[in-house]
Amino acid sequence: MSSATTTAPADTSALTVQKVGGRIGAVISGVRLGGDLSPGTVAQIRTALLANKVVFFRGQDHLDEESHEAFGKLLGTPVAHPTVPSADGRYSLGIDSDHGGRANQWHTDVTFVPAYPAFSILRAIVIPPYGGNTLWANTATAYEGLPEPLRALADSLRAVHSNDYDYAALRPQAVPEALKQYKEVFTSTKFLTEHPVVRVHPETGERNLLLGNFVQRIAGLTGKDSRTLLDLFQSHIERPENTVRWQWQAGDVAIWDNRATQHYGVDDSDAHERKLRRVTIDGDVPVGVDGRSSTLISPEEVPDPSFGIASGASTAA
Ligand SMILES: [Fe+2]
Repeated sequence: MSSATTTAPADTSALTVQKVGGRIGAVISGVRLGGDLSPGTVAQIRTALLANKVVFFRGQDHLDEESHEAFGKLLGTPVAHPTVPSADGRYSLGIDSDHGGRANQWHTDVTFVPAYPAFSILRAIVIPPYGGNTLWANTATAYEGLPEPLRALADSLRAVHSNDYDYAALRPQAVPEALKQYKEVFTSTKFLTEHPVVRVHPETGERNLLLGNFVQRIAGLTGKDSRTLLDLFQSHIERPENTVRWQWQAGDVAIWDNRATQHYGVDDSDAHERKLRRVTIDGDVPVGVDGRSSTLISPEEVPDPSFGIASGASTAA
């Protein structure tokens, strides 16, 4: 399409897709999200999502835990977080300002398990009067933008991801008790997973850099060599031209392709309340350029959560 705005066919005549950034992000208008959308509308949303990596919807205030999950089912199978209990006893995960964990590190959700989520669907309930924006980065264009020798190097590497890292070092201003409690829950099972550094996307065929703050080190390297390479690749992901920044309003929904993005929650809304709900959709086991799949190093298998199936439990490559 040559225009930035595309109009849908007759059965979904109100649906429009408007790009926000050149490399990532689009606003979809004219859709009331829920479990009752037509297959044609769902297909259009999925196409826009795969193309733009993150899509935004305003004015979805009608959604609750149930209809949020019902909409999620149209994109795949909802999964529970491997360690953090849900907000509603089912799949909806609380992303709230009153716990010790803030996502102000670039990351891809749940990469410490092999089959981490394909999509995350985040719904804004309470938004602070200022700050609290979220940034997303396109990990496919980050890979494409690498000079050829660095692409070849990245293609050959694997990295170890874990949910067990130094939380206090990342959040020096957090209340120690809250942080300790959050870490205890988040790491109640300690996961180690080895992923390829370049993942071939199962739906688009694009190559994506697979890194973020759950990475401990590049496999086969230690210390300074690993950190230097991680910083190098990560700097290409975080370049401003490669990102989009979203200023939330209550009732907004953002859906991102978690296999092709990293994101960052900006922690700059002081003590104001911020409350969102996330439903995640099951992914598959990543495959590298050489055809090798990701492997779970420990524990032996992803344990069952208190409800449903856990993210990462899927064994399909
Ligand atoms: Fe996240």
